[in-house]
Amino acid sequence: MATIDTMSLSKSALKQSRLLKYAPLLPSAARRFARLDTCRRYLLTALVLVVILIGCAMIPPFVRHQNNDLRVREIAVSSDRIVSGQAVRIAHLSDLHSKQFGQGNSELLAKIQSLEPDLIVNTGDTLHQSGDYYEEIVTFFGQLTDIAPTVSVMGNHEPRTGKRADFIRDLQAEGIHFLDNEFLQLDIGGTPVSLLGIDERYFDRLDSRAHELLLQELSEMSGLRVVLSHYPNEFSLIEEDRAWNRFDFELMFAGHAHGGQWIVPGIGGLFAPEQWLFPVQYRGLYENRLVLSPGLGNSHFPLRLNNFPEIMLVEVGPASTD
Ligand SMILES: [Fe+2]
Repeated sequence: MATIDTMSLSKSALKQSRLLKYAPLLPSAARRFARLDTCRRYLLTALVLVVILIGCAMIPPFVRHQNNDLRVREIAVSSDRIVSGQAVRIAHLSDLHSKQFGQGNSELLAKIQSLEPDLIVNTGDTLHQSGDYYEEIVTFFGQLTDIAPTVSVMGNHEPRTGKRADFIRDLQAEGIHFLDNEFLQLDIGGTPVSLLGIDERYFDRLDSRAHELLLQELSEMSGLRVVLSHYPNEFSLIEEDRAWNRFDFELMFAGHAHGGQWIVPGIGGLFAPEQWLFPVQYRGLYENRLVLSPGLGNSHFPLRLNNFPEIMLVEVGPASTD
């Protein structure tokens, strides 16, 4: 027995001496580790493995939290077109991408209900291109109409499902006002509201003439003038003489940017389609007119970071008479 002990001790000493041979090449923490006796090295290795395992176990709940912790962003604006004197509350949804917040989106529905909106607007990518949860999404939108008039436009994902026309028809059957390059006029608590919903992919996005005609027509309408469009870039991020902010309207609602996907502290959004790295417009209110939703679901990239799914609630109050 004594012989075996001596042998194992000498093996251990040999290993340690080999490690020490390479020690000057290692950083100081590794050098310290190499100088530890075998028992302490095993203990420390086990400890590091436990920390790594705990870290790995925490990844799924962390991802779930980042992708599912539904938030509400409240924005207040004013307009002299609120003739009733009563503020209009508009809930804005975008980029659901077939996501489910609770079965049949029951959690999302309850949250919207609690906001007591006068109008619900939805700016596309409602279905993901996979077409998942088609029936559930249609039913959910039907339930929204019990809360308030609900108006929707097309995104870039619905046509990829091959069910563009079916989806419009099915939502309309549920009472949704689906605006496919069309206008809608509503009366909300005594305030007329004129809405224009644009599907830019239906037109050639580079040929802005068709959009200009619609926006010109909207500018001549009465009441609160509202544009719904999936894409935010045309508002002001393109050539000045093509940008939509040269037209007269009170608000434009858009999505598509997914909030910059990851929010880097001190910098902002990391990535948005067609603006690419470090986008300048990715979520919130811009130029006091563009309401840009970070969306609710995910597109191809599965993780939001510091960029929680949001319902936006825009309260349009009467302009101050001071
Ligand atoms: Fe999207």
